[in-house]
Amino acid sequence: MFSKTRLIPVLCLCICILLAGCTKDEKKPTEQPTEPVTPTEVLSPTPTPEPESVVEHMTLKDRYKDVFKIGVAVSNTTMHNKEYMDVVKEQFNSFTFENEMKPDSLLNRTACQKGLPDTDTEPVLQFIGIQNGLTIAKQNGMGVRGHTLCWYSQTPRWFFTKDYTDSGELCDRETMLKRLESYIKQVMEFCQTEYPGVIYAWDVVNEAVDIGSGDSDGIRKEKNNWYATIGPDFIDYAFAFARKYSDGTAKLYYNDYNCYDKMASIVRVLKSVQEAGNIDGIGMQCHLGTMDSMRDRAYKAAKYFTSNGYCVQITELDIGSKTRAEGIEKLQAIRYKELFYYVEQGVKAGEINLDSITVWGLYDEASWRTGENPLLYKRSVGKLTKKPAWYGAMQDPAIEIPLN
Ligand code: GLA
Repeated sequence: MFSKTRLIPVLCLCICILLAGCTKDEKKPTEQPTEPVTPTEVLSPTPTPEPESVVEHMTLKDRYKDVFKIGVAVSNTTMHNKEYMDVVKEQFNSFTFENEMKPDSLLNRTACQKGLPDTDTEPVLQFIGIQNGLTIAKQNGMGVRGHTLCWYSQTPRWFFTKDYTDSGELCDRETMLKRLESYIKQVMEFCQTEYPGVIYAWDVVNEAVDIGSGDSDGIRKEKNNWYATIGPDFIDYAFAFARKYSDGTAKLYYNDYNCYDKMASIVRVLKSVQEAGNIDGIGMQCHLGTMDSMRDRAYKAAKYFTSNGYCVQITELDIGSKTRAEGIEKLQAIRYKELFYYVEQGVKAGEINLDSITVWGLYDEASWRTGENPLLYKRSVGKLTKKPAWYGAMQDPAIEIPLN
């Protein structure tokens, strides 16, 4: 039997022999963290590091460079943040202003009011909110989606009233047609003159089809001041004006949500616009969920629009989940991979005429779908971090998707 005092030198010797026998690649004690460790850290087994993904050092824009553009929605705040913009420039070759190019941002109410009666049919606009972003795009060779010229939402009521006040009387059809024309003319001409070639697609009309409570043709009536003042043909006029003032460098799009649910109605509503030659494509927003089938929601609708003679873009992609169940990030990654897989295959097979996919936001915390974490990046330990969803969008071979 050894006494306690004899046991200690024997144990030391054993440890020395073991250490000397370590191969070069094994973790040596000196590689252990030097900071104090908590008891739980000591007890838990060292996690096996995940093998590095084969797509880790690639970027979204390089991955899809021969197939379609990859875009992201950005706000002015994002655009002033170097960390974010480094990622935007590295990963994407297109962006959409999240809000800054919408009528409520571009219209200058005070100047419209002050300038009456001259401004009655010539509203005054301000472009200060989009200049920085368009300059970044121009300097970095990025494309921009022009979003959006004519929309029932984010277009203030005062724009439709005789005296440009919230509570004023709505204008007549002729006045509103002139305001619509002037608005479209000014926005397009500003962008085309100051930033030639930067905008490659205009969402001329956004969300005008509402099969639930629209008119007999499915055109949105509710809270729609364009419908109230001009009538259902505001869509035809908006596209006619956009075609008239376009320098031909950008395609003209109709953009809507839940396209998979209302694709036949959309095609029907746009028939006269298409026959007049005033539209090029349909933008599918694609605000989707982790329980959705990407094949049904994105691929089928894109194929349908293509077969009806339209170009297609996915314009506002996000795939969210209301639950925070375990494994939800993995499921989300599978869904992103499915979407990119089916769309890419469809494009390569010539079944889908699609040239751009835009994700609606850079990181979860800045998403409009609060709590649903629908995007490719998140903020983690104060830094922008790739989520499994990013690897899904890259079609990482390590992520398995159900094929049908
Ligand atoms: C719609 C619009 C977008 C944006 C989202 C919500 O999809 O087209 O511009 O406002 O709603 O953020």
